[in-house]
Amino acid sequence: GLRKKEVNVLCLGLDNSGKTTIINQLKPSNNSNHLGPLSEEWKHVSQTPAPDIVPTIGFNIEKFKSSSLSFTVFDMSGQSRYRNLWEHYYKESHAIIFVIDSGDKLRMVVAKEELETLLNHEDIRNKKIPVLFFANKTDLRDAMSSVKVSQMLSLENIKDKPWNICASNAIKGEGLQEGLDWLQDHMK
Ligand code: GTP
Ligand code: MG
Repeated sequence: GLRKKEVNVLCLGLDNSGKTTIINQLKPSNNSNHLGPLSEEWKHVSQTPAPDIVPTIGFNIEKFKSSSLSFTVFDMSGQSRYRNLWEHYYKESHAIIFVIDSGDKLRMVVAKEELETLLNHEDIRNKKIPVLFFANKTDLRDAMSSVKVSQMLSLENIKDKPWNICASNAIKGEGLQEGLDWLQDHMK
């Protein structure tokens, strides 16, 4: 058959926002009662089983295939001491997933700063790559809506790249498929 287009996706966002939980949801579940949030179309092709979710050290790489694309996902650590690793992957990236903890009001300004640093970086600034935001942890009682998160991060100022924000609950897998379908549509 035709060779699938190979794309690199960077998964960024502050520590504890839910990046690894989101990526783990894309893997086949060990729990047979749980069908997973994603359609048959998505196949996890790495050999590694889904590990327990712990804070990521450095980064993890996962590979997935959809019907048209072969994805390499870089699940970066959001801890401040590792955030300087992010920029080394900007040049090679074809899309960005930026995850926000919708319940973390105190650090929304830190997330905004990191987003601005990312978008102003010389290797990202002039690239028209899609940016998908997950306003994650919508299940938390005091979670902000995706509209509110979008306002807090001034997403309306992003004029030169396609972007989208999806509310998600990574633990249940809610909202993930919608976001990934959008991302895939913008990488064809
Ligand atoms: P770093 O690797 O340190 O950058 O963090 P991360 O962004 O990968 O976060 P991780 O996936 O490790 O999740 C952090 C914590 O948030 C874990 O305890 C998850 O179970 C929890 N979590 C992730 N998504 C959700 C969600 O949608 N709702 C709730 N309530 N908790 C979540
Ligand atoms: Mg992680």
